[in-house]
Amino acid sequence: MTGLSASPAPTAVATTATGPRHVAIIMDGNGRWAKRRFLPRVAGHRAGAEAVRVTVKAAADMGLQALTLYAFSSENWRRSSEEVSDLMGLLRHYLRKEVAELDRNGIRLRTIGDISGLEGDLIDLVRDGVERTKDNRRLDFVLALNYGAQDEMVRAIRDIALAVRSGAMAPEDIDPTTIEARLDTSDLPPLDLLIRTSGERRLSNFLLWQAAYAELLFVDTLWPDFDGKALAAAIADFGTRERRFGGR
Ligand code: IPE
Ligand code: IPE
Ligand code: MG
Repeated sequence: MTGLSASPAPTAVATTATGPRHVAIIMDGNGRWAKRRFLPRVAGHRAGAEAVRVTVKAAADMGLQALTLYAFSSENWRRSSEEVSDLMGLLRHYLRKEVAELDRNGIRLRTIGDISGLEGDLIDLVRDGVERTKDNRRLDFVLALNYGAQDEMVRAIRDIALAVRSGAMAPEDIDPTTIEARLDTSDLPPLDLLIRTSGERRLSNFLLWQAAYAELLFVDTLWPDFDGKALAAAIADFGTRERRFGGR
C-alpha cells in the first residue's frame, strides 16, 4: 500500500455502529455491597444472583448474541469454605429455579471453565440446563464456572501437545486459529466488550486470550446494583469507541 492511499482496506477497521455481539462481565462487588449494609457477604451474593437474572433478560431483549458472566473463578476456591459453599448453594438454587425461565425466554445456557471440578449434583444440574436449552437461539448465556483463563490455555496447550506427540499435528501447524479452536469459547462470537463492575481495574484471570481486542469498560457500580439500564449504558459507551485491530 502506498503512503498516499486514502481509504483503508474495508476489513481493517470494524465500526461499533452495529453494537456488540458478545459482552462479558466480571461481576464484582457483592461483598462490598453487603458490607455497606452491615449484612453478611452471602446477602451480597444473593442480591448478585438477582442482578444476574435481570441482566440476562435485558441482554436477550437488547438483541445481544452472547453474554458471558464470570460467576466463579478457579482462584475463588481460596475463599473461606463457608463462602465457597454459600456460592455453590446459590448456583444450585439459581439453576433449579431459573433454567425453565431461560428456556421460556429462548435463551441457551452454556458454560466455560472446568465444570468437572464442581460437586457432582451441580455438574448434573449444569448439564441438564445446557441440554434443556440447547435449541434456543435468542441469546447465548455463558456462565464461567471454575473458570480461569490460564487454566483454559493450559488445557488447550495440553491438547495440542498430545496431537503433536501422536503425529496428528506438526509444531509449525500451531497458530492462533489452532489455539482458539481449543479454547472453551471456540464456538462463541468474538468478545467485543468486557465490563468489570465495582471499580477494580484488573482482569483477574478472565478471558485473557479473548480480550486481545475487546473494548474494556470499568464501572464503579457494585454488581448487585447492575441491571438492564447499566447494560444499556455500557453498550452506548461501546458505541462511541473506534476499534482499529492494529489496522491504522
Ligand atoms: C463477586 O463479588 C462475586 C464473586 C467473586 C463470586 P465479591 O465477592 O468478589 O465482592 P467483593 O469484591 O468482596 O466486594
Ligand atoms: C473475579 O473477582 C472473579 C469473579 C467475579 C467470579 P474476584 O473478586 O475474585 O477478583 P480479585 O480477587 O479481586 O482479583
Ligand atoms: Mg471481588
